[in-house]
Amino acid sequence: MLGRVNHVAIAVPDLAAAVASYRDTLGATVSAAQALPEHGVTVVFVELANTKVELLEPLGEGSPITAFLEKNPSGGMHHICYEVSNIVDARDHLVQAGARVLGTGEPKTGAHGKPVLFLHPKDFSGTLIELEQA
Ligand code: CO
Repeated sequence: MLGRVNHVAIAVPDLAAAVASYRDTLGATVSAAQALPEHGVTVVFVELANTKVELLEPLGEGSPITAFLEKNPSGGMHHICYEVSNIVDARDHLVQAGARVLGTGEPKTGAHGKPVLFLHPKDFSGTLIELEQA
């Protein structure tokens, strides 16, 4: 069911500082910041040869990463995103297998304009999983 790793996401308390360290210290190519109010985050993508790293900063009240940053004040790995060919088929399979899909269970449009879903970390070794329809 799983395709390639689309990205690994890191929650950060200060996006400008994180961008500077990836761009200036690590020498990576970093995209422009993109506000995603529907997801409560501002994101940039660090473009790598084989995948991307997504840096996430909270946006607005009740951001889903606020509690994470309270527990991890200097930031930390927040989720991993795997590609699937059909997100509705993947969801139906996972729900049937007893996995918990977060939110309403209906795909939302993610940062790349493609449908995404999140799976409960307690069902997957303590790691929040994002599925993106490739
Ligand atoms: Co993501």
